[in-house]
Amino acid sequence: MTILVLGGAGYIGSHTVYELIDAGEDVVIADNLQTGYMGAVHPKARFYKGDIRDEQFLDNLFNKEKIGAVIHFAANSLVGESMIDPLKYYDNNIYGTMVLLKSMVKNGIDKIVFSSTAATYGEPENTPILETDKTEPTNTYGETKLSMEKMFKWVSKVHGLRYVSLRYFNACGAHISGKIGEAHIPETHLIPLILQVPNGQREFIGIFGDDYNTPDGTCIRDYIHVTDLAQAHILAVKYLNDGHESNIFNLGNGVGFSVKEVIEVARKVTGHAIPARVSERRAGDPAVLIASSDKAKKILDWKPEHASLEEIIETAWNWHKNHPRGYSSK
Ligand code: UFG
Repeated sequence: MTILVLGGAGYIGSHTVYELIDAGEDVVIADNLQTGYMGAVHPKARFYKGDIRDEQFLDNLFNKEKIGAVIHFAANSLVGESMIDPLKYYDNNIYGTMVLLKSMVKNGIDKIVFSSTAATYGEPENTPILETDKTEPTNTYGETKLSMEKMFKWVSKVHGLRYVSLRYFNACGAHISGKIGEAHIPETHLIPLILQVPNGQREFIGIFGDDYNTPDGTCIRDYIHVTDLAQAHILAVKYLNDGHESNIFNLGNGVGFSVKEVIEVARKVTGHAIPARVSERRAGDPAVLIASSDKAKKILDWKPEHASLEEIIETAWNWHKNHPRGYSSK
């Protein structure tokens, strides 16, 4: 069976392709290369440049390749940007998914695993967060992902297509080989920004607020290694292939680290003092986001293998120190 990975040149997509190919799967990638990189494309995957909003492109691809399941990463994913340009998120995430589903239904492709997010919950009502907790996004990004989930639900009811939605918490780290890693322009995520300090690209890391209701006053997040996320996608495809019903799973380690704790671990890993300065809170940041991933562990048999924050930051540092400008140069 061939697996189509949409957005397979992006951060989480490329790591998933590496795991799929390691597991012996035949992989086709489609990516518009707006935020993805050819350097992240696995040499053994067949690559098609194109956009999921282009129905003809998708129809041609489904005609040419015998696709058994789709893994869909092709979306915009920056909370801040989604509050500056919300319609970009409606266009790519919701309209793009609508065109994709239209083409899948037309071409008889009936299994899909896709990226959702902790941002679907908004301010959590419980810690750790369960899949059954209320979903009230506080930003456009989370709203578009929740709308995508609902689109899948109704298309599934009517057309019989089955889906797995994976709600990631904070994806981080890099492939153990050091060949691929995180490369966003502009970078907004905490760990790669911290590592720009020992890499000589930034003088200090800004801490967005230290007056939250947490033990050290800084925000707490659940950091999950990108390769563990990748493994969950493989298990989700297997789950659908085994004939199970559509489902939604959180993916996190179930352990929270504050911004200050993350900086401290990065100091230990890099041996650099990494100066930090407290600045204003960033709009829309919940104080604490920690996942319960018991459901994924029980039903998918998912076992995160790189759960220590030290190991996560070590793999990220191994990538960033050797690729200070991401895929643009060494
Ligand atoms: N932070 C800083 N300084 C920085 C950058 C981030 O203090 O320079 C803080 C943020 O305020 C936040 C934490 O570090 O408290 C983590 O921030 P990230 O931007 O790395 O990640 P987010 O938690 O904001 O976002 C992640 C994913 C999103 C997803 C969201 C769910 O990247 O895709 O979790 O809330 F939507």
